[in-house]
Amino acid sequence: MSLKTLQSFLADDMRAVDHVIRERLYSDVVLIRQVSEYIINSGGKRLRPALVLLSAGCFDYRGEAHHELAAVVEFIHTATLLHDDVVDESDLRRGHETANALFGNAASVLVGDFLYSRAFQMMVSVDNMEVMRILSDATNTIAEGEVLQLLNCHDPDIDEDNYLRVIRYKTAKLFEAAGRLGAVIGGGSEQQKDALARYGMHLGTAFQLIDDVLDYSGEAAETGKNLGDDLAEGKPTLPLLYAMKHGTPDQTASIRHAIEHSGLTEFQNVLTAIRDTHALQYTREQAQREVETANAAISLLPDSKYKTALLQLSAFAVDRSF
Ligand code: IPE
Ligand code: IPE
Ligand code: MG
Ligand code: MG
Repeated sequence: MSLKTLQSFLADDMRAVDHVIRERLYSDVVLIRQVSEYIINSGGKRLRPALVLLSAGCFDYRGEAHHELAAVVEFIHTATLLHDDVVDESDLRRGHETANALFGNAASVLVGDFLYSRAFQMMVSVDNMEVMRILSDATNTIAEGEVLQLLNCHDPDIDEDNYLRVIRYKTAKLFEAAGRLGAVIGGGSEQQKDALARYGMHLGTAFQLIDDVLDYSGEAAETGKNLGDDLAEGKPTLPLLYAMKHGTPDQTASIRHAIEHSGLTEFQNVLTAIRDTHALQYTREQAQREVETANAAISLLPDSKYKTALLQLSAFAVDRSF
């Protein structure tokens, strides 16, 4: 299934979400408008808002809070990207220069804070304590994930469990929140809310596993990001952990060195080790297992075109090249 099919299925709702996003980006402070409009206008797949909409759709939700909450989730995501690109010293995002490359680190961090706090104003406007709890817990966990990842950088002795914890926190948690939010405003039962939260959590985990694959094998023209950023930062992601465990002693030493000292001097050796050990294939298989668990979690929901679209979103998360 292509992302385009999903986007056209959600086109009317997405237009409404886009309207909310544009309206709520407003600030009297010109630099805030410049930076936030710059990153929002460069595109993005809008998967997290899509998940809010699909989840609410499973309950035939007819109000408007799902548009507001979809925009909230996209604002939180955008704020994390602004901060993440500063921390990762990345200079390409969504096929354009990153905001930090163009406007500087300080502007990126501060506008990220603006988007976070604007998201909180918007979620308060929905006036639902459960919604506020879900989103405040999620943002807090994302911050923990980013700090945990910082601690793991340059450490080649990180194990797979440790890596999984980081990606569940920094990425999967927001997908989990998106899935749960749709069910909450749609009036789902506790069991249904948990099902959509579990779906989101496993989908988000798969999504980050594939992001970590694409950092070694993607095409910058498709991902809109530079390859090799993870190695340049000394990030011990699953492809490296697996290649270290299954490579020759020389390959293992080379990857250890690359993680410890970062930089891209070992890039070719590392790529060879990844290829020889089939580390990307292994990582993709783990992503596939995650989406199977995600799909199983929503099997209890009645069949609908929204549920079918969720299954298609799972397939996209694993098959994607961008
Ligand atoms: C990028 O997320 C950050 C990760 C969690 C891997 P997306 O790939 O969803 O970014 P956009 O919004 O489509 O640019
Ligand atoms: C995802 O990790 C970051 C967030 C959840 C904010 P990455 O650092 O791998 O994301 P990209 O590759 O820069 O989009
Ligand atoms: Mg990054
Ligand atoms: Mg990445």
